[in-house]
Amino acid sequence: MLLELVALALAMVHFGVPLAYYFYLKRSYLNKPWNIRVDENYRPRVTVIVPTYNEAKFIQKKLDNIYGQDYPRSLVEVIVVDSASDDGTVDLVKKWASEHKDVNLRLVEEPERRGMVPALNYVLQHCRISGEIVVFTDVDAFWDVDALTKVVKYFADPNVGAVTASITPATLADDLLEGTYRNYYNLLRIAESKAHSTPIHNGAFVAYRTSLLYKMCGLPEFTGNDDSTPASIAAFMGYRAIQVDDVVVKEPVRGNQFLRKIRRAQHLLLSFLKTKRYAKELGVYRHTKSFEKVWKVEWWLHVINPWLLIVCLILLIMAAFYGYLVALILIGVGLTLLILKAYRMWVLHQLYLVIAAVRNLWTREIAWSK
Ligand code: GDD
Ligand code: MN
Repeated sequence: MLLELVALALAMVHFGVPLAYYFYLKRSYLNKPWNIRVDENYRPRVTVIVPTYNEAKFIQKKLDNIYGQDYPRSLVEVIVVDSASDDGTVDLVKKWASEHKDVNLRLVEEPERRGMVPALNYVLQHCRISGEIVVFTDVDAFWDVDALTKVVKYFADPNVGAVTASITPATLADDLLEGTYRNYYNLLRIAESKAHSTPIHNGAFVAYRTSLLYKMCGLPEFTGNDDSTPASIAAFMGYRAIQVDDVVVKEPVRGNQFLRKIRRAQHLLLSFLKTKRYAKELGVYRHTKSFEKVWKVEWWLHVINPWLLIVCLILLIMAAFYGYLVALILIGVGLTLLILKAYRMWVLHQLYLVIAAVRNLWTREIAWSK
């Protein structure tokens, strides 16, 4: 009986904390004003940096997409950094550039592949960046024509350090589960952003105030992401790092979704484990009460909370093994609930996080297979 009681308590904490957090954010912050001085007419120079590794399939469409933005072309500079692609990506970039002479485009070629973050750092260290805003974007992420214009206006406020777009899967029908997941998370991210900042940003579109990237000495290389970690550092520096609701980027669900989810979770975990100390070591850390609160809950939700579910399950299986009927019933209820989409999505993501934590013990996937 004790096993079952402990298991039940764990389950209640596991589901109770995120639910309480969700309703708290929804009620207290979702409809609050941004408290940011937004200026629709703010027009800084922008540097869009596109990392590529074997992107022949999408790269021209991606460049067309940036080219088609309604932001003044003379204010946009594009840098493609390729890491020794062997599928003709570089030739396609050169061809595209020769057909679009009115774009300020630079191609940087790394002689070998070391991963996306090292490639982006190479650009920050070796190229003159003319933009006051730097945007990192994945080749497979396509923006609406006004995405850049809409994001830039937030940077008119000097307190804003990072801005990321909300994400939907490109083909909704293709992945209803992914759709549910995005709705729930987008709400959390936006409410956190209104409170101060969100520690989780989206690599499909993430914009930084350039000077901050230099103040944090480039992107940290203890993780493989170019979104959540630098954005969290910006927030730890006292700047707002926000996800906005008026810019939505579609992202195709491609490749092996499972491995990709695990790898992203690995990077996110590394971010939660190391970023705060890293910011302190860099000497850029500044205590911001409202962001610390968000960080603590998200830290708990990513690092600890998934394990409660696993321990709960193990205890129930043990109890069932000793013949306790209640345990069997509880396991039955837990499994039956899987017919509910939201619950299924939740459990799946807990599994991603647990597998990611274990996998981080031997590989960090800084350069991942594609
Ligand atoms: N230059 C270079 N070198 N670019 C790379 C490399 C590399 O070694 N590896 C990947 N890229 C490029 C890809 O070509 C793509 O444009 C972008 O980096 C993102 O890689 P994807 O393979 O599309 O992975 P993803 O969509 O799952 O990546 C996301 O997860 C990361 C964290 O794990 C992105 O949203 C990233 O921004 C995020 O940080
Ligand atoms: Mn991608």
